[in-house]
Amino acid sequence: MASGTRNSTTGILSNDKSEEREQIIEMLRKAYWMEIETVMSYIANSINPDGVRAQEIIESLQEDVQEELGHAQQFAARIKELYGVVPGSLDFTAEQTYLQPPEHQTDIVHVIKGVIEAETGAIEHYNAIIEATDGVDFVTQDMVIAILHDEEGHRRLFEGYLREYEAEGLA
Ligand SMILES: [Fe+2]
Ligand SMILES: [Fe+2]
Repeated sequence: MASGTRNSTTGILSNDKSEEREQIIEMLRKAYWMEIETVMSYIANSINPDGVRAQEIIESLQEDVQEELGHAQQFAARIKELYGVVPGSLDFTAEQTYLQPPEHQTDIVHVIKGVIEAETGAIEHYNAIIEATDGVDFVTQDMVIAILHDEEGHRRLFEGYLREYEAEGLA
């Protein structure tokens, strides 16, 4: 070809959409860090808990670690597709105070509530991305809708665990 590559003239990758892209990339970076921190928190909380009733939580979080890691990879890939750069680890700031190890490792309610809090935070941020990308970037929107579905499933599962403890007056 004689000329260079042709820039896309429609959609989020077009030249005149750089401002919109930057805004979306910023939201995706935040989502990426949320997933990374969730992976860290879920690894710890899938190993620390003690007791007979901890097993269900442990197995559930072990599975979630892989899913949240997959989400982080999807967010990272989309950042690149939008001409952004996936941040390095020095940009990371931890925020999940509610998912730190409890004083007693048999305190399963602490873990369940922490997971619900993390999933709720993700659900709020992903709803914001879905709204911000509406009519602007359907591909990001489509991806985040699928991820939001996963997070809603996670939250519902842990709400169910909490109900059991509440029914017994333990939460
Ligand atoms: Fe996730
Ligand atoms: Fe999740």
